[in-house]
Parts: sequence; C-alpha cells; structure tokens
Amino acid sequence: MIGIIDFGAQYSQLIARRVRQAGVYAEIYPCSKPFSDIPFAKMTGVILSGGPASVHEEYSPRLDSEFTNLHVPVLGICYGMQALAVADGGRVAAAEVGEYGRTRMTVDSSAALFDGIDPHTDVWMSHRDSVSSISGDWIGVAQTAKCPIAAVRHTSKPWWGVQFHPEVHHTDSGQAILENFVYRICNSPRDWDLGDWIADHLQLIADEAAGRRVVAAVSGGVDSTVMAALLHKALGEKLDCYVVDNGLMRRNEIEEVIKSFDELGVPIQLIQATNEFLSELSGKSDPEEKRRIIGRVFIEVLGRRIGDSDILAQGTLYPDVIESVAAHGPSTTIKTHHNRVAEVLGLLEQGRIIEPLRDLFKDEVRDVGDRLGISKELLWRHPFPGPGLAVRILGEITVERLDLLRTADAIVVEELKSANLYYDDTWQAFAVLLPIRSTGVMGDSRTYGEVIAIRAVTSRDGMTADWARLPYEVLERMSNRIVGEIRGINRVVYDITSKPPGTIEWE
Ligand code: XMP
Repeated sequence: MIGIIDFGAQYSQLIARRVRQAGVYAEIYPCSKPFSDIPFAKMTGVILSGGPASVHEEYSPRLDSEFTNLHVPVLGICYGMQALAVADGGRVAAAEVGEYGRTRMTVDSSAALFDGIDPHTDVWMSHRDSVSSISGDWIGVAQTAKCPIAAVRHTSKPWWGVQFHPEVHHTDSGQAILENFVYRICNSPRDWDLGDWIADHLQLIADEAAGRRVVAAVSGGVDSTVMAALLHKALGEKLDCYVVDNGLMRRNEIEEVIKSFDELGVPIQLIQATNEFLSELSGKSDPEEKRRIIGRVFIEVLGRRIGDSDILAQGTLYPDVIESVAAHGPSTTIKTHHNRVAEVLGLLEQGRIIEPLRDLFKDEVRDVGDRLGISKELLWRHPFPGPGLAVRILGEITVERLDLLRTADAIVVEELKSANLYYDDTWQAFAVLLPIRSTGVMGDSRTYGEVIAIRAVTSRDGMTADWARLPYEVLERMSNRIVGEIRGINRVVYDITSKPPGTIEWE
C-alpha cells in the first residue's frame, strides 16, 4: 500500500487515484493524525502531498524524527518536498512571485524517478516557496527556468522530492513518474485490481450480512445502482431493493430505474409515496424546510420496510470517509438524506449498516458498474440531487408546477443529447422553474407566464463549476421548444454564473 500524507492539498485525492490507476492500493491520512495511528508498517512507500502552508509559518506542519527515522521510500510533492528538504538540512525561500501553470522542465533521465522520461518535458507548477538549497546528502535532478531545484533525490536513502505536480493531467509524464516511484523505487506489488476487488467483496459482503436481510434504497444514480448490483450478486434473494417515488423525480425516471434493474436481473420494489411527500410539502417554500421535510418523509417511508434484524446498505464512497486536514475544515461532501437514514433510525450505533463501496472513488465505482454489466448511459448520467425537482422549483411545489418543470427538463436533456453535448461537455444541465411571472406576447394577445432558467455547467467534481458555453443554436432550440410546447411558460433565461460564487442548484 502507498500511504498519502495529506498536508491539505486540493490534489491529495487525485494522487491516490493516480496511484490506484497504476495498480497499487493507496490510502490518505491527514498530517495531523498522530504518528502511531498511521499504519506505516503496511506501506511500501509514502507520498507527502502539497499544501497551502509555508514552512516559514510558525504552525506549519513539519516532519519530525519519528518520520525521518522510518525505513520507507518517500516522495514529497510541492509542500511535501519542502517539508522533507527542511527536515534534512535544506532551506526553503519565499519567492516574490510564484510559478503557476505549465512549465518546461529539464530532467536527469538517469534518475530512477525519471526513467524513460523525455529530458525536456512539460510539468504543472503551482507554488510560491521553493527549495533554495539542499544539504550535501541531496542532489538536484531537474530544473526549470524559474526553479533551479525542481526535483531532488537523497544520495543514500530512497527519498525524493518534486516541486511540480505529477498527479495533474497537465504534467505530460505525470503518470509515468508516479509509476516509477511506486514500482521502481518502492517495489510495490501490483495489488489493486477492480476485478479482484469485486471477487473479494462478494465474499466479504456475504460474511458481513451473516444471513440477515439487507435493505437498499435505489435512486437511479450511479452509486446506489452499482451498490445494489454488487449486493445482489453477493446476497441473491436476501437483498430487498426499493425505489421510492417521491413525486419529485424527472420524467419517466421511475419506469427507467425499474427497467434497468429488470435488465440487470435485480428484483426491485416500488414504494409509491408521492401523495405523502407532496401533501407534507404543500404550502412550503423555504428551501431548507423543503429539504428537511423530504429527508424526514424518506426516512419514515423507508424505515417501515426495515425489519428488526435487517441491515441497511449505504452508498458511502471513499471521499466521504477520508479524514481531512482539520485546519482546512471537513472535506466538502454533500450528505444526502440517504446517508442519514441509518443515523436517525439508530442503525448506526447498532452496527446494522453495510457500506460496500466505502473503499472506492467515483471513477472506480463506475468501473465496477461496468464490470457488473450496468449500461454506459446509466453510469455516465448527470448527478441528480436527492431532494429531486423540489430544489429546482423555487417557491411552492404543486403537481402542475412539477409537470411544467418535468417537460422543460426533458427538453433541455433531449436537445443536449441530440447535440452530443451531454456526456463529455457538461457536468449537469437542467431546467429551473422560477417563482416569478413576466409579460409576453403570443399571437395577438399578451401573456403573463412562468419563467424557466436553463442551468448547464462544466465541472470536474461538482465542488467548483463554470457555466457551459453552449452553442447559441442549441440554446435557441431549447428555448423555442420550451415556450412553444409548454403552455404557461413564455420566457426562458440562461444562467451565466460560475460556482463560486453561485451554486450549481438554485436552492
Ligand atoms: P451545489 O448546488 O451545492 O451542488 O453547487 C453541488 C452538487 O450537489 C448536488 N446537490 C445535492 N445532492 N442532496 C443531494 O443529494 C442535496 O440536497 C443537494 N444539493 C445539491 C448538485 O446537484 C450538484 O451535483
């Protein structure tokens, strides 16, 4: 296993994903965790991540002698390199101007880390401080115009440091450099293969369930579908899968979920709860109150299906369980109401939950889904929020307004798909129904109708996003169809706000 010590970098998860992509299991530990709680003995190598601190700050994270006395190969990246150099007699200088972006670097190809790498290669830099001098035990093995010590190696220990970011895709040979580290320098065994992971987990899931019934709620999204398919393979008829119709789903969504489960051969039962949800939501327009109601009703509805000795499956992923570096707040993940079911029903404290995907990153979940025969369309669907269309109807939710929004949403998605912009070019794209009316003219008469906003964004992970530069012709077709085909809507606007400062959803 490769251990990644997180100094608070935005790229720590990416380092772990790249190492796993190379075929070696990787786990992330915050640098604030007590040394004795990090399983260094299990690690074939350690990667120190970058981070926002400067070694010159009084409270910046340091590497003490407990760490430097370890007999384990180390690769320090950015701040990680600086911390390693300082711990072993080097110096770090705070530059007047930083170095950001793609940079040409010259490398010593005879160094093991750069084996097979072009002597002139482009790397991604993002730093202000850099190592200005190294002790006699170290030698420089790469430089750029602005950074004379861009990579270093220790002369007698398997310690390496790079100022650039091998984990980001802008670094041309980044993956090859990380592979040199994990295989050539650390001699890690190739131990991460999702085919083996599935085989091992079928047995682990069966052992954990120990003959009890497992209840899984499926939303039609990637995580719950992959989880249910995996559980079914492991448990057969001991699995009870439910899809809850809360009345807030997109057009034909429930039918499509049931159809895709039929195709997978996984039995699924429909819980028809539209009336329960809509009557509780009636007259409510405060966004947080709507969310709270939906979460509570969901727990009540599903809770009735969980027997006294049953266990509940949760689609928790690895990014939800990584402990983050405390100084920079908890990792910004969204807790869906599904994840709260176990907590509220007291199943958590009784240990009656199973989280079969908790080792995996999202792209690995998709890979597992692909191996289990789930269709590409489903695996690459845009994310959809747990509270459904409720957070896309600003103001009160009524059956009529839900119908309007469903039709508008279907048009947006249809047009995006037919322009071939759905899968690779957008992260999410949808319609929002606004709580205002505006004047229009249709034929010879004036109208006073509802307004639809189209929201389409590009993003890598949903944490930040930019509005998608959709072609005018596509926007035109969406707008013409929405106004022409949906009675009651006479205006369409396009949201051109990035995140931050906006959010992706409107509520
Ligand atoms: P925002 O709107 O915060 O959304 O930029 C980021 C991502 O999270 C989804 N989202 C939610 N998912 N329950 C969910 O399960 C929610 O209450 C919720 N709110 C937002 C959103 O669709 C986007 O992918």
